[in-house]
Amino acid sequence: MGQGNATESKGLKAPAYYRQEAWDKFARWYDPLVKLVLLPFGGEGRLRRKFVDFAAPKRGEQMLDVCSGTGTLASVIAERVGGDGKVIGVDLSLGMIRVAQKKVKSSVTRFQSANSESLPFPSSIFHSAFISFGLHEMPESARQNTLREIHRTLKPGGYLFVLDYHLPRGGVARFIIKALVRLLEEDFTYKMLLEESLTVEVKQAGFVIERRELISAGAIQMIRARKISEEGAIG
Ligand SMILES: C[S@@+](CC[C@H](N)C(=O)[O-])C[C@H]1O[C@@H](n2cnc3c(N)ncnc32)[C@H](O)[C@@H]1O
Repeated sequence: MGQGNATESKGLKAPAYYRQEAWDKFARWYDPLVKLVLLPFGGEGRLRRKFVDFAAPKRGEQMLDVCSGTGTLASVIAERVGGDGKVIGVDLSLGMIRVAQKKVKSSVTRFQSANSESLPFPSSIFHSAFISFGLHEMPESARQNTLREIHRTLKPGGYLFVLDYHLPRGGVARFIIKALVRLLEEDFTYKMLLEESLTVEVKQAGFVIERRELISAGAIQMIRARKISEEGAIG
């Protein structure tokens, strides 16, 4: 596994859709804002623990957290894998990585700058990979590249765990989530939400979906998908 860090990664070229400056500037406000935004969804701490419970990581496992942001999820995963485990968080924003490095002091965790579309790791090394509220930040082609890269870096039989928006079936929750995503996110995120394309995209990258759970009145989905064979995406 590469030993990169925020300083080494300065030469990384961000994809056109990625708003590097915005993410870097936003980094110091990210944690308080997320706490606030996730309050109606049951609270950030509860939501993250629920996601990690869903994944049920085992002690000693090697984990990848893609689009790791300020590292909050990685720190919860680190508690579960224990001292013999490893959690590597990757993100394109040096601002986010700096916040994560300051906040998460565990020796089990490491953060490095990388584009999720081209992960700087050898194939078949991680037991599981997580991506929480990361896929919706990318247009469809980048989501597909990211999912294929995750597939490549997972061990055969390894798991991918996705946490992201979901369109509730009806009622006030449907109205609220549509309005929230329309207001706060990009057009491609809104499209992903309306077309409910995430599960199809996960399968297209070569995964088998084993379980999906809807939480927060159906506004958030948790997906457990498995890398069954070395063969990646169809087509
Ligand atoms: C909404 S935040 C989610 C952060 C974290 N996973 C969480 O649950 O709070 C999305 C993150 O994805 C990162 N990101 C977006 N596109 C990326 C890419 N192509 N490669 C790596 N990171 C990316 C952003 O820099 C940002 O930190």
